[in-house]
Amino acid sequence: MTTRPFIVGNWKMHGTRSMLSEARAIDRAAERLIKVEVALAPPFTLIHAVHKEAGLIAVGAQDCHPADGGAHTGDVSAIMVKDAGASFTIVGHSERRAGYGETNALVKAKAEAAIAAGMSVIVCVGETEDDRAAGKHVDVVTRQLKGSLPDSDGAAERITVAYEPVWAIGTGNTATTDDIAAMHAAIRAKLVALYGEVGEAIRILYGGSVNAGNAAEILTTPDVGGALVGGASLTAESFLGIIVAAAERDEA
Ligand code: PGA
Repeated sequence: MTTRPFIVGNWKMHGTRSMLSEARAIDRAAERLIKVEVALAPPFTLIHAVHKEAGLIAVGAQDCHPADGGAHTGDVSAIMVKDAGASFTIVGHSERRAGYGETNALVKAKAEAAIAAGMSVIVCVGETEDDRAAGKHVDVVTRQLKGSLPDSDGAAERITVAYEPVWAIGTGNTATTDDIAAMHAAIRAKLVALYGEVGEAIRILYGGSVNAGNAAEILTTPDVGGALVGGASLTAESFLGIIVAAAERDEA
């Protein structure tokens, strides 16, 4: 597959307007590193400002509500984040699955709302340490895919999958490249089973403690189409190391 690597920064609940200078610096670098597709998912409160001030990179949300609007205090709909400048949203991040009890069915409803609003989606899946210790990791991820992926018309063209082992997120532990390759192959097989030939072209990102030091190795692992990056996306300096590794990937 020859698609451009996709490097997405997930700022989580970090960032006030003082962080816009980081977004601008990331945007300037992305202008030079055109081989890489770069995106940022800041908190809701910064989507509009990042969209305005970092116009070359894609801006996305970290979540959305499945309804278009209504009596849902504190929630934000897909239509709203699109209106603020988001072109995609992350759904099903493990911090939301674990912290808010989000089910596969809810994640799927959110993904379908985002697609109906005209955005693309990054659907996150990943096993816990216990799942892996019990040898259930492929089953767990396959079930998450089956239950969370949207099946509305044209959905497959708007999906990216992010494989993020829960035990690798924010811990400094990354999966081995063999484990990543094995899981990405299993995800690919499931995508093809669900969507047919279109499933071959869906990008699969790896996430979990990706940084400038390990990015080159991870990004050259078979069927890794990019990275979803948390901690190391919070400064332009650390994020750029990953973007540069992605730019150099096809030259290696
Ligand atoms: P991390 O987070 O890079 O800080 O491990 C990744 C993620 O949760 O998307």
